[in-house]
Amino acid sequence: MLRYVTTNDGKLTEAREYLGDEVTQFDYDYTEIQADDLGAVAAHGAREAYRRVDRPVLVDDAGLFVAGFDGFPGPYSSFVEDTLGVEAVWRLADSELDDCRASFRCVLAYCDGDPFDASPDPVDRADRAVAAATGARETESDGRAESVEGANNEPDPVKLFTGIVRGELVAPRGDGGFGYDPIFEYDGTTMAEMDAAEKNAVSHRGRALEKFAEWYAQR
Ligand code: IMP
Repeated sequence: MLRYVTTNDGKLTEAREYLGDEVTQFDYDYTEIQADDLGAVAAHGAREAYRRVDRPVLVDDAGLFVAGFDGFPGPYSSFVEDTLGVEAVWRLADSELDDCRASFRCVLAYCDGDPFDASPDPVDRADRAVAAATGARETESDGRAESVEGANNEPDPVKLFTGIVRGELVAPRGDGGFGYDPIFEYDGTTMAEMDAAEKNAVSHRGRALEKFAEWYAQR
């Protein structure tokens, strides 16, 4: 059984469209390392979650990238949603930008502790940079020190699957979905005006899940 590592029920609903009963939620708040790259955050989280549960895991890290703000909030999307809120991001974009183009990106990181054709660097390098910066091989989570490395002191292999959707920021509309969905419009409809199947058909997560489901079926 595959563990979908998220505290967000909305993500799980979308994942079930592709993975059905193959997947169960692992409600675990993995350490979000500070990195400019969603892949590095997701890979680190997948290694940590795998060490914790000792079962195959899939971590989903996503973000909103506003072109006119050089990609901000990007990897900091969660922090910005919690502090400023989604409507404030729209007001900021509306007042500061002529061009409100934006994209959603999603990275899925899979780890089951076994070797496979893993995604190459920079993921491993990012983890090593974090370890070097903190002077430790371990990461603190829930007060418990956990190694993110396998027995041979190499990071566990992680496979990444990415998806992206381009759209535009608009005044909030709709009450479906979650997060930034009400202010993200794709082809005239905000993601919050779509049901899970409609969103999956065009979304960053749907695209990443489709790639993952195809690969996982072979594994
Ligand atoms: P995380 O991937 O759970 O860290 O999410 C980062 C931020 O992006 C959070 O504020 C989420 O609410 C938001 N987010 C992630 N995926 C989506 C999505 O599919 N639609 C809208 N917001 C999302």
